[in-house]
Amino acid sequence: MTKSRITVLISGSGSNLQALIDAQSEGKLGNAEIVSVISSSKKAYGLTRAAAANIPTKVQSLYPYTRDIPQDNKEKRAEARVRFEKDLAELVLSDEPDLVVCAGWLLILGPEFLSRTNTVPIINLHPALPGAFDGTTHAIEMAWKKAEDEGKPLKAGCMVHYVIEEVDRGEPLLIKELEIIPGKETLEEYEKRVHEAEHVAIVEATAAALSKK
Ligand code: GRF
Repeated sequence: MTKSRITVLISGSGSNLQALIDAQSEGKLGNAEIVSVISSSKKAYGLTRAAAANIPTKVQSLYPYTRDIPQDNKEKRAEARVRFEKDLAELVLSDEPDLVVCAGWLLILGPEFLSRTNTVPIINLHPALPGAFDGTTHAIEMAWKKAEDEGKPLKAGCMVHYVIEEVDRGEPLLIKELEIIPGKETLEEYEKRVHEAEHVAIVEATAAALSKK
């Protein structure tokens, strides 16, 4: 039986990628294999994790596309973004993946990318519940602060959802709820709980997405 092929997109530390690598070696991803890791940053530690697991890596950074264009030249910057997304789509499709997993990938996947990859399911990890703190990279901090400011318990957590054009609005595939009790833990402690939940969620959601194919 042929193995399902997974491409993982990362931007940073790659602890969620590591959870997937570990899950694969423990047989928790079934008959699937991470065939490629693409990072939006050449400095991402996740690249080291991938290399240590003998997974081929590529870097697709937005910076070379936009660095020579002034911030206020919106038209040229939009064109650069289109070129970036087309190239990213080409890179992803060259892996012939059955599933793309965004595990801490920080760039928005826009219409130029999504229209080219629409035959492949794409899932994304977001450190908040559906509809809460969409499109921000500060969702964990914002949830913790909201509970502290309001002085009452808050249902928060993380989710994995299918990627659509509206950022963080795709159909949720898996949700892990965590309750924040004001005054009970520091932001760092809450962050740690979210990351632990994410490491479980990303593995369960990847297995679930593969089984739906
Ligand atoms: C995670 O908290 C993810 O939800 C967020 O960025 C973090 C990535 O962590 N978007 P890592 O790179 O997997 O360690």
